[in-house]
Amino acid sequence: MAQFEPVLTRNWNVENGHTLRVYEARGGYQAARKALTTMSPDDVVNLVKASELRGRGGAGFPTGLKWSFLPKDRTETLMCVNGDESEPATFNNRLLIERDPHQFLEGILISCFATRATTAYVYLRFEYIAGYKMMERAIAEAEAAGHLGRNIYGSGFDLKVVLHRGAGAYICGEETGLIESLEGKRGWPRIKPPFPAVEGAFRKPTVVNNVETLCCVPHIVERGADWFKSIGTPKSYGPKLYCVSGHVNKQVCVELPLGVTTRQLIEEHAGGVWKGRKAKAAVPGGISMGLLAESEFDVPLDFEALRPTGCLGLGTAAVTVLDETMPIIDYLAICARFFAHESCGQCTPCREGTNWLNKTIHRIKNGGGRLEDLDILEQLSQNMGITPGTTICGLADGAAWPVKNALAKFRGELEEYIRTHQNPASLPTPLQTAIAQ
Ligand code: NAI
Ligand code: SF4
Repeated sequence: MAQFEPVLTRNWNVENGHTLRVYEARGGYQAARKALTTMSPDDVVNLVKASELRGRGGAGFPTGLKWSFLPKDRTETLMCVNGDESEPATFNNRLLIERDPHQFLEGILISCFATRATTAYVYLRFEYIAGYKMMERAIAEAEAAGHLGRNIYGSGFDLKVVLHRGAGAYICGEETGLIESLEGKRGWPRIKPPFPAVEGAFRKPTVVNNVETLCCVPHIVERGADWFKSIGTPKSYGPKLYCVSGHVNKQVCVELPLGVTTRQLIEEHAGGVWKGRKAKAAVPGGISMGLLAESEFDVPLDFEALRPTGCLGLGTAAVTVLDETMPIIDYLAICARFFAHESCGQCTPCREGTNWLNKTIHRIKNGGGRLEDLDILEQLSQNMGITPGTTICGLADGAAWPVKNALAKFRGELEEYIRTHQNPASLPTPLQTAIAQ
């Protein structure tokens, strides 16, 4: 791979790179000045559309297209920035916020100008206390310097940025759960449509974008759509922050062009698999995405190539490595407990399904598994959300996918585990068996 010049992380190792003084000295806020004083909002939307920037929060939805869904006759627009970042092993947004808050604010400013949003709510994960403090300081600096507030750069555009601490729940990262939580209610996702672009926060047209997505925008304005599209693979463009954790020697967050492989991440950036072991599998981008077997480690981690492997997609690009000694049932037990705990409970297939997955997987793990349990898990995961539209949000699908994917790729290991780990005390009682059937 040719030498890649960092884009989103270029200020991370610069002394005081998080301050306005250093950010401006390194060209910061020039893109915002250019957008607000020489471009129209539609020009910016069209530029972002031309760049084919896709959302970095997990779904990969085209950003410019999302902005163009806002009603043309709207009188007010709000922006909600999704900094909830609750996907396990995902910490790219935390670092972007803590290490370069002004890049993030500049992205917010240009994106609000493009969408005509005059208030931006930055919804930060509850646990991100350092990021919250960093943002408080950066907003004060930007307001004092005229990058936020009224009539920014004499353009007539006003913007207020409001910080909001999250509610410590995974589901508050789902965009409508986030909006409900922001409004002071329980973070229960809403039925879509209407999508937030039409009816979002406080029932107003609302743009919801992820932190990393917005951080890309100043660079697109500064260097153009063709430059952005020159980075990455023929169909997945731009720089991307990849988090690598799990059974590696060095847990890292590294910026690379879209399309790097799991093997490159492990070997070239994370110091290899720990303890001299081999890898068995890796989560490609958050646990809802499924599992890559070691034989699939050369598949590019981009928006296109993962689907044929049976994984849901790139997700948050947070790679978690499982070494050869990690039983797949242990990995499934961690996923199942997480989703059963985080389901908000509104939809029956999700509330009941995550609970049954958790109970069945833990029973297998504890030595009470029967071979037919694998078929039960398969049916359960099939019924939970693989059929679109049976639940309000994607959590049920995300909880079912790792199970389906692991059954497809590691069924032999799971059968072997059931055969060799028998603990009669953990077997289901006749009544439990009858209920399950
Ligand atoms: P989605 O595909 O339903 O929506 C993506 C975006 O496009 C949303 O903003 C939605 O409003 C918009 N959109 C889609 N169709 C639209 C239409 N017809 N009109 C207007 N807007 C439209 O995906 P979702 O549920 O927002 O995100 C799921 C992903 O989130 C998962 O794949 C997962 O990777 C990721 N995720 C990320 C987490 C993190 O910590 N970063 C945590 C949990 C999940
Ligand atoms: Fe809640 Fe699950 Fe329904 Fe999403 S799918 S709204 S998390 S019950």
